[in-house]
Amino acid sequence: MSRRKFIAGNWKQNNLLAESADLVNELLPLVQNIKSVDIAVCPPFTSLALVKDRLRGSAVMLGAQNAYAVEAGGKLVQSGAYTGEVSPAMLKDAGCEWVILGHSERRQYFGETDAKVNAKIRACYEVGLKPIICVGETLEERDSNRTAAVIDTQMRGCFANLPAAKVAESVIAYEPVWAIGTGRTATPAQAQEVHAQIRKLLSELFGAQTAAAVRIQYGGSMKPENAKELLAQPDIDGGLIGGAALKAKSFADIISAAV
Ligand code: 13P
Repeated sequence: MSRRKFIAGNWKQNNLLAESADLVNELLPLVQNIKSVDIAVCPPFTSLALVKDRLRGSAVMLGAQNAYAVEAGGKLVQSGAYTGEVSPAMLKDAGCEWVILGHSERRQYFGETDAKVNAKIRACYEVGLKPIICVGETLEERDSNRTAAVIDTQMRGCFANLPAAKVAESVIAYEPVWAIGTGRTATPAQAQEVHAQIRKLLSELFGAQTAAAVRIQYGGSMKPENAKELLAQPDIDGGLIGGAALKAKSFADIISAAV
């Protein structure tokens, strides 16, 4: 099965309104003729409405960086007394098609667990918001040969009891923590090895057809210079881009490498 490449920009906690507007305005003309790659930008919550407005008429999609969901009384909660939180229903309403879940920064600083990610995924499915689910090992875990075990645990936890049809439309981002923001990219072979493991596990959990449909992005110091090589790997279907997504030219160059 041929999977359409998908490049998403994770702006993290960056960009005031004017900066968000400038970045999108600069990006759109650079990518408007690229029809064969899915593209999304994931600004902070405060810039979602503005960016949505700027994206009108373009194929570039909007995503958020987190959502809140909890199960209460056997139901997934999309509104209520959870001060400061934003639900998948709200993000969908704000024009998002995607949301990043389980990013390692959220796991590290905000107590995100696989079980929490699982509830968030189910709440996204309920409202038709598509998740980009992040997994990845730390340097210590890689150095002690625990990468495969860590990925296996994260995947089984995040994907517990999900419907295969929805999983097929979801995206996974393999982001080795040691490669994020460090300039130290995983080699294409290192990344491919984990991507293949993830697809094999998806096949075990949801069947070969679903596994073949799911797009698996690589994330971690991906830039114009290394994008082509990474994207040439058989199980690397795109990228989740941090730092390089904050500059229109470098983000566009990565997208061009996916054509
Ligand atoms: P960098 O591209 O800055 O390494 O960040 C990757 C990332 O965390 C994307 O979600």
